[in-house]
Amino acid sequence: MRFGHFDDERREYVITRPDTPLPWINYLGSESYFGLISNTAGGYSFYKDARLRRLTRYRYNNSPLDMGGRYLYLRDNQTGKYWSPSWMPTRVKLDEYECRHGMGYTIIQSKLNGIRTSTRTFVPLGQSLELWQLTLTNDSASDSDLSVFSAIEFCLWDANDDATNFQRNYSIGQMEIVDGVIYHKTEYRERRDHFAYFACSEDLVGYDTIREDFLGSYRGWNEPQVVESGKSSNTEAHGWQPIGSHHVNVKLKAGESKQIIFILGYHENPKDDKFDPPDSQTINKRTVMPIIKRFLKSEEADQAFADLRTYWDNLLGKYTVSSPDAHTNRMVNIWNAYQTMITFNMSRSASYFESGIGRGMGFRDSNQDLLGFVHLIPERARERILDLAATQLPSGGAYHQYQPLTKRGNNDVGSGFNDDPHWLVLAVTAYIKETGDWGILNQPVPYDNQPGSETPLFEHLQRCIQYTLDRLGPHGLPLIGRADWNDCLNLNCFSDSPGQSFQTTTNKDGKVAESVFIAGLFVLSAREMAELVKRIESDALGLSKSQTSKVNLTFDLRPSTFYMQAASDMESTIWSHGWDGEWFRRAYDDFRRVLGSKENDEGRIFIEPQGICVMAGLGVDDGRAQKALDSVEMHLATPHGIVLQQPAFSKYYLHLGEISSYPPGYKENAGIFCHTNPWIMIAETRLGRGDRAFDYYTRINPSAREELGELHRCEPYVYSQMIAGKDAPTHGEAKNSWLTGTAAWNYVAITQWILGIRAEYDGLRVDPCIPSAWDGFEATRTFRGRVMRIVVHNPERVCKGVVKMMMDGSVVEGNLVPLDLAAGEHLIEIWLGVKNG
Ligand code: BGC
Ligand code: NOJ
Repeated sequence: MRFGHFDDERREYVITRPDTPLPWINYLGSESYFGLISNTAGGYSFYKDARLRRLTRYRYNNSPLDMGGRYLYLRDNQTGKYWSPSWMPTRVKLDEYECRHGMGYTIIQSKLNGIRTSTRTFVPLGQSLELWQLTLTNDSASDSDLSVFSAIEFCLWDANDDATNFQRNYSIGQMEIVDGVIYHKTEYRERRDHFAYFACSEDLVGYDTIREDFLGSYRGWNEPQVVESGKSSNTEAHGWQPIGSHHVNVKLKAGESKQIIFILGYHENPKDDKFDPPDSQTINKRTVMPIIKRFLKSEEADQAFADLRTYWDNLLGKYTVSSPDAHTNRMVNIWNAYQTMITFNMSRSASYFESGIGRGMGFRDSNQDLLGFVHLIPERARERILDLAATQLPSGGAYHQYQPLTKRGNNDVGSGFNDDPHWLVLAVTAYIKETGDWGILNQPVPYDNQPGSETPLFEHLQRCIQYTLDRLGPHGLPLIGRADWNDCLNLNCFSDSPGQSFQTTTNKDGKVAESVFIAGLFVLSAREMAELVKRIESDALGLSKSQTSKVNLTFDLRPSTFYMQAASDMESTIWSHGWDGEWFRRAYDDFRRVLGSKENDEGRIFIEPQGICVMAGLGVDDGRAQKALDSVEMHLATPHGIVLQQPAFSKYYLHLGEISSYPPGYKENAGIFCHTNPWIMIAETRLGRGDRAFDYYTRINPSAREELGELHRCEPYVYSQMIAGKDAPTHGEAKNSWLTGTAAWNYVAITQWILGIRAEYDGLRVDPCIPSAWDGFEATRTFRGRVMRIVVHNPERVCKGVVKMMMDGSVVEGNLVPLDLAAGEHLIEIWLGVKNG
């Protein structure tokens, strides 16, 4: 069953009933002001940091679901009937309802009692505010007399403190109400130089800023006393719970329409110009008034909306596809790319599953996210790389997380996740392949943000590799540390006390437990390093020898042969100790016992090493990769995706950690952890098995799962982190939508490996590995300033194998579109087929 449909033309998902299984959300904002908005107008807003600069309140884990948001109430003043045009929070049944989630905006439209409403909510580019454009239309035959009430609840900035420190917070709330604008200025009198404001384009009949006055005591948002009576209380909050509510009277003749604009915004004043007059405690509003006046005009709001559309047209125009599969097209052209941008902005901080007060920016997460958006916003990718590298430690290891506001490594979590550094190598090499910006390697970057410790970024990469070489275990495999990619495989934390952190409570010395996954990742990243260094060695490209000496490397530039050797040594170690006969093993525990082997009763086979080792090239030429992937198919694949491991852990194992803390089938304990599935898709393309790669792609493609709405439950337009595995009673149910590495990796799998269009140092590779049923596809890819129109023909219905390529009408050897093309557009035609001989 479906709860809506895609409108690909407008790049929207259209939700056609308000009672979706879970709130289906969207994101507003792309630079510094952000908001989450659900299909019933729930959600909240913040400036830069969801924890430290929260503008509005939201109560997680609540019943009824999704309480707190950008609410509007309409009241028919003749009958006294009132309702919410977004259904929540009154839940009065609407005659018509539709929510359109688009790229950075949401439009909720409905109709009741002859009144049609449409509310468009978005953040204008470059502004720290959101606009709600409400259009009311009287669709009935008679004149109407309406009251419109807005309602938000302010958060006292630090969302964590706001939800816990009531003894202080109930006394500090402060407001100003001037000319119909409601200002929230809690703590402005002391150390804050920022405030929030809530403005309305119309003259007000009244306003409210005290929650209890607006709702009435012991009443909820579903039946505010002010809305019921039609009379605002015009009171100013002191302490308790400050809210903002405007009351506007609208008289509409039959057929008449009217637009009302609300602005919710954040504003900072210069520290020495906070008050007006200067010796008062009144907010200086001279700096914000021009902004408010500007955006309360509907022409300005419309222009800002048009600019936002153009921004997304440009971004999403960088890679588009037209294939025989509608799900692929809409995910590549719209939603998957959009989701990667959201993960760029949010990392794992704020969603309906991440409270915004927990995790900072993950080192591993952000590096992987970058793989999905680097071609969309290369300049911002560069900045992100430098921020991440600056949190690296001199050892080559990294802080596992950093705080977006300070960009400092987070001491609570610390470091010691031994896979972390390798993701930086993958991110930087992807960035250079995309942009050709070799100069980034020369950029001085500190360690642990310590001034004076700077070395060229290139040396950071060398240290990434060295970090693992310095931490090898008894079999010569990499030591796992606190965990590898699988945060829940905690082989050095034997935790027997409730509430202890599995990740940070390390009580083994960490000198024994090893990870085959990191070994595979090492081979992958060391081979990337070798490729990179090869080009640095040759004077023709990027850094010449003399340039490298200029950049003052504090240890020797290791030759590419060093990295090739390191990779092949590690590969041999994997074959000796990480290969189980039918698949790759997962790890060795603190007792030197194997995990992910036929010797195990539970956790016999894991997905991660199969994906990463084959991606690194292991066994591709000798049948062992195929064996490993066939084992995945046999033991791990389900109709809803590939589970993380089998058999699930049926009980808690002290020596394995958090992985066995989850009930079977959920999360890392044999859930379909969607992040890992694209590794298998990519691995399948290494073997040329396009049918299988695409089959796996489709199993977890949210659009392809739209019909399963009642089972899947999360949004059908974005990936979720997890779908319950076959051991779970709710097999097929998704959780943790939006903020997941799944977005970037699926995007990489489909665009670079299945459609096969990927940036390389020397050009754009076109090497599709598609389903044999496809007769071809077309794509457009902007690469290094040129637009490539790519047409792929598949007359013999093969999965893989380019037999001919034409560029602008001439035949070219191979399948690499070279760099030295004239500016402008180029037509690349590719024929797949069976190679002769
Ligand atoms: C989750 C992991 C997550 C980790 C972050 C665990 O509880 O299962 O998916 O990465 O927390 O600390
Ligand atoms: C979610 C974390 O954000 C990610 O870094 C990790 O790799 C996965 N969970 C698997 O544990």
